Amino acid sequence: MRVLIDEATVHEGVASMANEIRETYVDTPLTIIGVLTGSVVVLADLIRKLDMPLRVGVLQTSSYDGTQRGKLKINVDLMLDIRNRHVLIVDDIFDTGHTMHEVIELLGEFEPASVRSAVLLVKTGKKEVAMDPDFAAFDIPDEFVVGYGLDYNDAYRHLPFVGVLEPDDLAEDRKWPD
Ligand code: IMP
Ligand code: MG
Repeated sequence: MRVLIDEATVHEGVASMANEIRETYVDTPLTIIGVLTGSVVVLADLIRKLDMPLRVGVLQTSSYDGTQRGKLKINVDLMLDIRNRHVLIVDDIFDTGHTMHEVIELLGEFEPASVRSAVLLVKTGKKEVAMDPDFAAFDIPDEFVVGYGLDYNDAYRHLPFVGVLEPDDLAEDRKWPD
């Protein structure tokens, strides 16, 4: 494992993204929708830095098997009403952008007042959709990263930093936990 963004730097990035979000919405009530499972850590840290009227909900998507992209699945069984609300979608990473793009389309059907997006990481040069996230804490190179919510086969999400898996970590016999 190689550390790409250490814990202190991650926190600075989330804090400055929180400032930008607050400056954008000022005191307009906001509904944050976290995209599980990867957003769980950034969501928890970000909302505690947002001193403004806020509601929080989640939806779940999945698309990866190991480090390979698979078919995107989205569970939009929203537990809170977003009609006429200002919605901010929070995810861990914007890679090809397909996840964020589809989540925005789906939430649009609930007729929110506005929809914006915030991510911890943007992978450089991978975008396959005609949009960028409205808020992003870090641009990173095109490497498979884990930690601070991001996983490899659902492991490593709890690491407090963002790291790059090395060939050794990716070997079949090192799949963890097993
Ligand atoms: P996209 O649809 O290609 O933008 O991929 C977004 C989703 O794929 C994110 O929500 C992540 O869960 C997952 N993902 C993309 N890149 C990585 C990575 O480097 N490590 C772990 N998960 C990733
Ligand atoms: Mg995800």
